[in-house]
Amino acid sequence: MKSYFRPEIDAMAGYVPGEQPKMANLVKLNTNENPFAPSPEVEKVLRSFDAALMRRYPDPRADAMRCAIAQRNGIKKENVIIGNGSDDILTMIFRSFTSPALAMAMLYPSYSLYAELAAMQGAEVIRIALAEKTFALPENLLEQASRANLLMLTRPNAPTGNSFCFKTIENICRSFDGIVVIDEAYADFAEDNCMELAKTLPNVIVMRTFSKSYALAGLRLGYAVASENIIEGLMKLKDSYNVDMLSQSIALAAYNDTAYFADRVAGVKAMRAKLKTELEELGFYCVDSQSNFLFAMPPDGDGERCFKSLREEAVIVRYFPGEATGKYVRITIGNEAENARLLEVLRGIYQ
Ligand SMILES: Cc1ncc(COP(=O)(O)O)c(C=O)c1O
Repeated sequence: MKSYFRPEIDAMAGYVPGEQPKMANLVKLNTNENPFAPSPEVEKVLRSFDAALMRRYPDPRADAMRCAIAQRNGIKKENVIIGNGSDDILTMIFRSFTSPALAMAMLYPSYSLYAELAAMQGAEVIRIALAEKTFALPENLLEQASRANLLMLTRPNAPTGNSFCFKTIENICRSFDGIVVIDEAYADFAEDNCMELAKTLPNVIVMRTFSKSYALAGLRLGYAVASENIIEGLMKLKDSYNVDMLSQSIALAAYNDTAYFADRVAGVKAMRAKLKTELEELGFYCVDSQSNFLFAMPPDGDGERCFKSLREEAVIVRYFPGEATGKYVRITIGNEAENARLLEVLRGIYQ
């Protein structure tokens, strides 16, 4: 049958999001959601929200949220853009900086959506392989990325969970002749972040999301910080009303509840350390994680078998086939009961 799609679209496989199964007694550790509920302030907004307001369009630029983020980071609201999840901001970025003539470079393995977004633009994808086992950056990263207009750095990286030396990232940003995006979806679980680079360097965009550390994946809210010039350009590509009214109010309430946020992030980090030790006791190798998940290699180095065996017991983790990733499974840090069930099933398989 004749296709009416652009050839680039026909050639694409399309991004496959992590499954959201509806099984009974499911232990869901596959999409890096937060094991805790969002801030109680979220529920207060939901209960008191005046539905009559919804006949109006929302604030197109989500300025209350932009101002709150700007204030906390010592920048201006003109340095901030809000998205319907950070995936929405990625779409704006790829439309802005990639084309058949403008290539994109990304780490490998990393967030595979970047390659799909580049394919939509007909842009070349340059994959920069990370080291085996440590998933560290290669020394010649800049050389490999030199043909690209857009360099995607994911820090901490997904699905591997590790971070990269700040100084190295800073040097890359200073030397790369193009836009560097530092996707910090997991930075709240890490020891440090690169916000300073977005505040000081004209070619750097730092992205954050409310989906992980704020436990609001279902809400869809993300943001990016960059120079005024970059933000103004991205605004041109934004859907007019990309963030709905309720999401703007809820996200602001969650953002302002700093005590709850700090407590729950600390809780996830503590459970991450505990789970890593327990997995190592079972003979797993875990990549050093600064995120809310562990990239773990089972004792027999067979990620697929581990994934399938867990699935039979309704414990869902993520498996990424392929040479660099197929020996591993990616396990989201769950709550105490979920982590305990995971370990119980793993003991049955490996002991
Ligand atoms: C590295 C990375 N960036 C961005 C996203 C997208 O997050 P959001 O839910 O804000 O669209 C994810 C989601 O898993 C991610 O892992």
